[in-house]
Amino acid sequence: MSTILYNDRFIDRSQGKVDMEDRGYQFGDGIYEALRVYNGKMFLLDLHMKRLERSARELRLALPYATDHLAENLDKLIKENAMDYGYVYFQITRGAIARKHRFPEQPINTVLTASVEATDKDEDLHADGIKVSLLDDIRWLRCDIKTLNLLGNVLANQEAFERGAADAILHRDGVVTEGTTCNVFMVKDGVLITHPADHFILNGITRIFVLQLAERLGIPVDERTYTTAELLAADEVFLTSTGVRVTPVLQIDDRQVAGGKPGPITNRLLEAFNQDVEQFVTAVNA
Ligand code: PDD
Repeated sequence: MSTILYNDRFIDRSQGKVDMEDRGYQFGDGIYEALRVYNGKMFLLDLHMKRLERSARELRLALPYATDHLAENLDKLIKENAMDYGYVYFQITRGAIARKHRFPEQPINTVLTASVEATDKDEDLHADGIKVSLLDDIRWLRCDIKTLNLLGNVLANQEAFERGAADAILHRDGVVTEGTTCNVFMVKDGVLITHPADHFILNGITRIFVLQLAERLGIPVDERTYTTAELLAADEVFLTSTGVRVTPVLQIDDRQVAGGKPGPITNRLLEAFNQDVEQFVTAVNA
């Protein structure tokens, strides 16, 4: 039995019930975050909270309480569940009211739920590389907001799975945007290239972190759009997310990319990332 957070209360998972007229359930009208927990502590917490506040502003959704208090609650949730390694997932919806597209006229209570999922320390990492599929990006034009409404991502992720790939890299009319659950980077002639953080992609926390690592390591960065043709001709390709950290892409559909093995810049970034995680783990112990 696990404990979940429901608004400001800790309850047993079996008691967690959502109203059938909750706008998250009806419309996907809500926002979420997923964080990684290492040694009982949330990694890159401040950046996740900042992004949450931004998503809330963009959707004109009132957070039920301040993010400081939310962080305390999430910390308690991890302790309640005695979790050392895994994920914290939380979401906030606009609340439950008779179904109408427009916002409720009177303010109603938003609904916040949070849960944890314990994993092994290095679960979901694929340092040896993966295969992906290249698919059309059919999503809306505000992919920068971390909303619950993920149907475009879900359909592409499923199609990739059915094609025997681990994820999909999406493109709009030949311009690479991001993955269904991750951001995409490529390397060409020693330069790290990734789609700019505009409305077409989610500005991943791992993306931000990897760009900081690149700066620290002196790797030149160009945040610009690039085409699927450039992607297929890249020296290196990798994905980033809270779950996969830095994952080399070695195959796109039937084509081998990046020489079929993780490249030197990908490996440097992954090594630096892993070192930072280890430091974070031991800092918690201190
Ligand atoms: N997904 N782009 C999309 C579309 C995503 O769904 C995610 C994360 C990312 C990477 O963001 P971050 O580095 O902050 O994890 C990029 C999460 C993990 C999910 O939906 O479960």
